[in-house]
Amino acid sequence: MEIKEFDILAYLKEKAEKVEKVLTEFFPKPKGYGSRVIEAAFYSLSAGGKRIRPVLCLAGCEAVGGRDEDVVFFAAGIECLHTYSLIHDDLPAMDDDDFRRGKPSCHKAFDEATAILAGDGLQSLAFWFFTHPEQVKRVNKIRLLKAVHLVSQAVGLEGMVGGQMADLLMEGKKAGLKVLKWIHLNKTVKLIEASLLAGALLAKAKKKELQALKSYGKHLGMAFQIVDDLLDIIGDEKNLGKKTFSDIKKQKLTYPSTLGLEKTKDLAEIHTQKAISSLEVLGEKAQPLRAIAEFVLNRVY
Ligand code: IPE
Ligand code: IPE
Ligand code: MG
Ligand code: MG
Ligand code: MG
Repeated sequence: MEIKEFDILAYLKEKAEKVEKVLTEFFPKPKGYGSRVIEAAFYSLSAGGKRIRPVLCLAGCEAVGGRDEDVVFFAAGIECLHTYSLIHDDLPAMDDDDFRRGKPSCHKAFDEATAILAGDGLQSLAFWFFTHPEQVKRVNKIRLLKAVHLVSQAVGLEGMVGGQMADLLMEGKKAGLKVLKWIHLNKTVKLIEASLLAGALLAKAKKKELQALKSYGKHLGMAFQIVDDLLDIIGDEKNLGKKTFSDIKKQKLTYPSTLGLEKTKDLAEIHTQKAISSLEVLGEKAQPLRAIAEFVLNRVY
């Protein structure tokens, strides 16, 4: 498979624009006495971001023969969940980061209470998008329920929220790879995997296809967070749109702090290779997913 011939940046842009169109058009307009929270939520959502999770939702759908239009509302909801997690992740009570997506974090541009509420609002807006009539009419209802169930599991107490809890509890502590792996699996991998699987499920994926995508998603998600850990040290603030050395300041348990830089880079590569080899059964249609894996490994933002 010729990954090099595939224009991944054009692909990401095209898919992200489809999601952004829905987000912008359907996002609540500031009105009423609570309009400030709507402004804050939209501020963070529209500040930028790679949109990798919603793109994975579209790509998962495409990989099993589905069309973008059939999952784009669902994908918009996924980005709302992710942006909520970033707003809360940056709060002083959590990572205490003042920059995000090239702009002051939500609690800096507004205030802490507003940022907490903006995150809360984005979380429920995600489920509004998942169940929007424009989404419901395009897919099998049972499959839609399954996708919502899958994603809510991934971001909840036994997923992203649990992972964020452990990430905070492990600050300043020494712990082994087992704990670290668990944190990354929960705080990051589960949502990435679920974004992809939801797109495929909605597009009538077969069991075999779902199995392949599940394995791809796991390895891609691990590579993604390992590279995020690396970029905290070797990345460039301008490219990243967030401050570097945040993990060091907070004494986070990360791959570089546990294995050192070189072994961490090797591990990111191993996960990328495993992600790509999981895709064999999907053939040609999975080419974008192969290119996404390469992009995630080599990204600088
Ligand atoms: C940042 O996610 C949080 C992590 C799970 C590492 P992204 O790197 O996808 O952030 P955006 O959406 O592009 O801003
Ligand atoms: C964030 O991980 C994971 C979630 C938001 C769920 P990080 O704390 O490493 O993300 P960044 O580096 O702040 O983007
Ligand atoms: Mg964090
Ligand atoms: Mg953080
Ligand atoms: Mg990080």
